[in-house]
Amino acid sequence: MNYNSVLVEKSNSICYITINRPKQLNALSISLISELNSVITDAERDKNIRCIILTGSGEKAFAAGADIKEFISFNKKEGENLSRNGQKKLFDLLDNLQTPSIALINGFALGGGLELAMSCHIRIAWENARMGLPEVTLGLIPGYGGTQRLTNLVGKGKALEMILTGSMINSTEAKELGLVNYICSKEEGLNIANRIASKIVQNSPKAIAKAIKSVNACFIDGQDGFETEKQEFGSCFETNDFMEGTKAFMEKRKPKF
Ligand code: CAA
Repeated sequence: MNYNSVLVEKSNSICYITINRPKQLNALSISLISELNSVITDAERDKNIRCIILTGSGEKAFAAGADIKEFISFNKKEGENLSRNGQKKLFDLLDNLQTPSIALINGFALGGGLELAMSCHIRIAWENARMGLPEVTLGLIPGYGGTQRLTNLVGKGKALEMILTGSMINSTEAKELGLVNYICSKEEGLNIANRIASKIVQNSPKAIAKAIKSVNACFIDGQDGFETEKQEFGSCFETNDFMEGTKAFMEKRKPKF
């Protein structure tokens, strides 16, 4: 399928998704969010895909946020719907996928752009990347999950500082805060993402899905994450992956999942 603003490529069990609106710094318009929803849903359904790598086209931005030009004349209801639909269609979808995702932050990741990177399971940032939630400079607050995911990742104090000042941080600061896992040069970014993805794709996809669900349970209000872990751990025992993993261990060979 062809998309207007998204490029997709599949290879070696990895789905590479590139946000492709470089002239607008990959700003996340409503139609782009719909396209990403469709591409990601397709990747999740494709049994050959075991990891997603998400990046932006060009050398300037991963994504510079929600498309400001699109919501300039919105009223309260339209604003709430923008946030609600976007979170459902893209940000929550990605966070709760069974397929793990890696964000390769190739430049600015601002507002919705950083929120998108934070919805991925692992983040790698170019050395010159700049990250922030500048919504208050527009008279807004983050609307694609940023108040929650940034707080979960870096803690309340730093999250509030970043959100209230609207300031950008660089990759080194982001790494120190635990906002990104790795910093890389432009040249080595994809190699690092591929290296992580190629380890993930060798592991049990069923166990990986259960691990994501259990870790995410830590952040769901009213949910006992320890209880989720117990149930998901137990359910592993009825999977073929568990049979194969333990059999391979006993036979001193690599498992084939
Ligand atoms: N929405 C729409 N268009 C955007 C955009 C955005 N978020 N960010 C950049 N663009 C467009 C610019 O309007 C410009 O288009 P034109 O050439 O047609 O004028 C083009 O991309 C290039 O941008 P600049 O000329 O501004 O590039 P720069 O190098 O001078 O500045 C920047 C780069 C600092 C990232 C600056 O573009 C910027 O501040 N962008 C907005 C960042 C922002 O506020 N993001 C939050 C959006 S709100 C949000 O995301 C809400 C939410 O949580 C749901």
